[in-house]
Amino acid sequence: MTQQVYITRAVPDLVSSMLQQALPGLRIEANRHDRNLTAAELLQHATGANGLICTLADPIDRSLLQALAPKLKVVATYAVGVNNIDLVAARELGICVTNTPGVLTDATAEIAVGLILACARRMVEGDRLTRHDGFTGWAPLFHRGHGVFGKTLGIVGAGRIGKRVAQAMLHGFGCRVLYTSRAPHPDWDNELAATHLELEDLLAQSDFVSLHCPLTPQTRHLLDARRIALMKPSAILVNTARGPVIDEAALVKALTQGVIAAAGLDVYEDEPRLAPGLTALPNVVLLPHIGSATLETRNEMGRMCAQAVIDVLQGRRPRHALT
Ligand code: DGY
Repeated sequence: MTQQVYITRAVPDLVSSMLQQALPGLRIEANRHDRNLTAAELLQHATGANGLICTLADPIDRSLLQALAPKLKVVATYAVGVNNIDLVAARELGICVTNTPGVLTDATAEIAVGLILACARRMVEGDRLTRHDGFTGWAPLFHRGHGVFGKTLGIVGAGRIGKRVAQAMLHGFGCRVLYTSRAPHPDWDNELAATHLELEDLLAQSDFVSLHCPLTPQTRHLLDARRIALMKPSAILVNTARGPVIDEAALVKALTQGVIAAAGLDVYEDEPRLAPGLTALPNVVLLPHIGSATLETRNEMGRMCAQAVIDVLQGRRPRHALT
């Protein structure tokens, strides 16, 4: 019988080419409108599929998986984060879930470092001001930010991306590295001369705090009003992980009241919506979830998704199987 794959957003052409070459006769359907689908649309379009290539915006919950099983054999998400997928249900239903670890480490770290620099040196604010006749000439007190070299960086979540940011900030800017994770990582201590701390201590000591933990029930609102208040008034908070790790309303309040100096965000609590008040703040840099958005990385992520679908539909266990 003809096998089918449904792809929930437009993806690089190489994905279809790989699938077609490896699985001749495969029927590939993709979301022609290239917008996020509602749960009902997702169910409607994915029904009958043996493979599903989805994104972090698709709610792959138990009810969807139950409705698509037993035909559905594999869900390959175009992401490393899997907080939108019910892995327990997938495992119970015998559906293989895969993600794309590793290939987006550098790209995401670039955005985290960029946000630190942009916030510390008030670059976006400066750009806006320059475009709108606010640059009236050099002056000693004009548009001062905070320096970056030699400052203390706190990394929350000691995975690949957090480590890459720590390396870049240590070797590029001589930053002292603090990190928090469930257990100390000897490689961080040895390679980065990093210090493992409890979250509260890290927040109190860091000039820049960069979030790199997955979104789980334990990390939802990890940075709430109480914890944000532990940070230095000059501190900068950067989030390239998942929006709900920060209580966004509490962050808006903290930034408004000068509890911390600035925030650089690539992810939001209720994407693509932003918390009320966020866009009016001068001391935030807001990016549209582009951590992995380089041509190279998005191609590589596509290749990994296609390979995972091919592997499962040809009876092999894919390299990055999570269930
Ligand atoms: C991921 O892979 O989880 C990223 O957020 C997508 O860029």
